Amino acid sequence: MKRTLIVGNWKMHLNTQQASLLVHRLDKHIKAHRNIEVVLAPSTLVLQPLSLEIDRRKFRLSAQDAFYKDEGHYTGEVSFTMLRDLAHYCIVGHSSRRIYFNEGLEQVRDKVQAAVRNEIVPILCVGETKNDRAVGETKRVIHDQLTTALSNLTTEDINEVVIAYEPVWAISTFDGEIAKPDDMQKAIAYIRSVIKDLYGEAISQAVRVLYGGSVNDHDAKAYLSLEGCDGVLVGAASLNYLQFAGIVDAAYQLQSAEKDKDHES
Ligand code: PGA
Repeated sequence: MKRTLIVGNWKMHLNTQQASLLVHRLDKHIKAHRNIEVVLAPSTLVLQPLSLEIDRRKFRLSAQDAFYKDEGHYTGEVSFTMLRDLAHYCIVGHSSRRIYFNEGLEQVRDKVQAAVRNEIVPILCVGETKNDRAVGETKRVIHDQLTTALSNLTTEDINEVVIAYEPVWAISTFDGEIAKPDDMQKAIAYIRSVIKDLYGEAISQAVRVLYGGSVNDHDAKAYLSLEGCDGVLVGAASLNYLQFAGIVDAAYQLQSAEKDKDHES
């Protein structure tokens, strides 16, 4: 059984004290489950103090972004090299970065490569905008984002990459439209088909693909039970400990139900 990945993207919220309080509450409400990996993505500033506080049997840390050069005259930036040993994952190419900070396909590609070079697992976000969708460009956009982002990786590297499908129109920051799980299933299958064309069947099945976009504790189960969906990337709901714990619980309930089914058959 693949481990289900639940990632909480806190975006630009919570200072050190507030983050510490949230972790304390999450710790009380979330149990460690062998087949569920819970990842917290606080602001870069908070990674260091949280790394000393978290129970590593329950939580892993992710950065939300980093710069693609390892060192140099890049005022204001933090490199993946600096995040080594601090963050297990790093979100790369989130729609906020692409839209507000004009990150293009090549920059996202360089960041994916820098993450892998520094032994940090990139959580590569891909997804079409509302306009792309309206003009029937969804597949082309996903295809271009994936092929460019992965183009400098070896077959071995790709095993380590996590892909998050986040249609921009479904993210709470943008339109927050609730995506139909069936449509998401099609997009996830398409992502795997692109990976298959690039790296073959085995890797396309092994690579972890998440769904993200306004996921909350009520609808998490519907997305998590989609075929080929290995987890969720949660924004707004991850700031509420009860909702986030509820999402982890939904994953646990699904896994338990699956195990029961296996026993019966
Ligand atoms: P949301 O954010 O759950 O608030 O829509 C998802 C994300 O931006 O990763």
